[in-house]
Amino acid sequence: MAIVEIDARAALRRLLAERELDFHKESSSYSTHALHAFAAKFPPQLPRLFIRELTTPGETVLDPMMGSGTALVEAALLGRRAVGVDIDPLALLICRVKTTPLSPLDASQAAHDAVAQATGYLRDASAIASFLGSFDSKTRAFIDYWIAEETQRELAALMLAINQQEDSQLKSFLLLAFSSIIVTKSGGVSLARDLAHSRPHKDATKVPKSAMEQFRLRAAKTVRALEASSAMPGTVAVEALPGDCRQLPIESETVDLIVTSPPYANAIDYMRAHKFTLVWLGEPIDSLTERRSVYVGAERIRRDDRDALLPFVADTVRSLGERDPRKAGVLAQYFADMRDALREMARVLRPGRAAIVVVGPSTMRGLRIDAARCLGVIGERIGLDLVGIADRKLDRDRRMMPARTENNGRTLIEHRIHDEQVIGFIKP
Ligand SMILES: C[S@@+](CC[C@H](N)C(=O)[O-])C[C@H]1O[C@@H](n2cnc3c(N)ncnc32)[C@H](O)[C@@H]1O
Repeated sequence: MAIVEIDARAALRRLLAERELDFHKESSSYSTHALHAFAAKFPPQLPRLFIRELTTPGETVLDPMMGSGTALVEAALLGRRAVGVDIDPLALLICRVKTTPLSPLDASQAAHDAVAQATGYLRDASAIASFLGSFDSKTRAFIDYWIAEETQRELAALMLAINQQEDSQLKSFLLLAFSSIIVTKSGGVSLARDLAHSRPHKDATKVPKSAMEQFRLRAAKTVRALEASSAMPGTVAVEALPGDCRQLPIESETVDLIVTSPPYANAIDYMRAHKFTLVWLGEPIDSLTERRSVYVGAERIRRDDRDALLPFVADTVRSLGERDPRKAGVLAQYFADMRDALREMARVLRPGRAAIVVVGPSTMRGLRIDAARCLGVIGERIGLDLVGIADRKLDRDRRMMPARTENNGRTLIEHRIHDEQVIGFIKP
């Protein structure tokens, strides 16, 4: 058994009982945190608190659903080893750029070169036509629907230039700047509105800004963030891995703390926004649509483990089933997936150490689903000790959650999520 120098259980109990976990009015854009929009990010102070209080420098912090990597950045800033996993290719790109020290001078030069090359490509009609002709018909139709013709030409020119970059870190930096001009709340240079945080809809009256100019501005902003984040200790190891939280590519009992926020039961379809970037990176739209079905919280039902649900969880699913049997299937699948994810967290944690899981309630067909309590019950069953569940209020201006849309198209603004829960487990 590992020698635990801090009493994680006592510290966790104290944090959950005594600490205010809202962190409103505190900055969330320092270091590399604001390089790219991402739905339902942690406020950085939340992982920071648990990492600081429950680990010592040099220990390993894991986020098995790392999203945009807030926990990884905070772990690195605090001199901990950081490991993150995500199934989403854009999350992986964002995390790698956020946590890899890059010379601001080199990045600035690479952006300058990319803009110069892209400007050249814009005058080369056959190169642009050949790039745009490489999409399959469905991907082509998606792009034609969402991106104005002139913008398509600029984006193609930028991608042709970015693909010339041979240094993989600089290329990732350029791709991140590229993505951050499209995947934004306002839909960036696409014709979409409400991208990134909600369901996109087309606004044919939108006059998109120049992609080339936006790229230049975003790249410069990214370089400034890289300059400001030089405080990140270059000596600590950060690993951002592609993978599935239900089958972690990590050895057993090697992790000192887990801090994570899984998708909510029915909240965000990440791929809906991320495909706006990923198609330009060569991913066919069909394979992206297929891939979204394996995310935790997916709408498409691929497993039905209802019989294996624990009593409180089964009651919750049954109540929903009385209103909407299909939605009950989606919820049952969510809890089955989260059971597998919690089992993996328990496997990789060292004994005596903590897992912090941040999740919110969902409203499905008018029924409030107490996801935190359900996950608490599931965690205990797979062998974790539930130390406590604390509430935190969401800063509605910040952590934008999507408005749900009912079948009749009515938007349920009133059902937006106002609070979420911080669940604390210890591996005995
Ligand atoms: C709420 S977000 C995490 C946000 C993160 N805490 C941050 O600050 O950016 C949930 C993440 O879970 C990821 N996810 C969904 N299913 C997954 C799976 N099966 N394995 C790993 N990650 C998954 C999503 O891609 C998404 O990035």
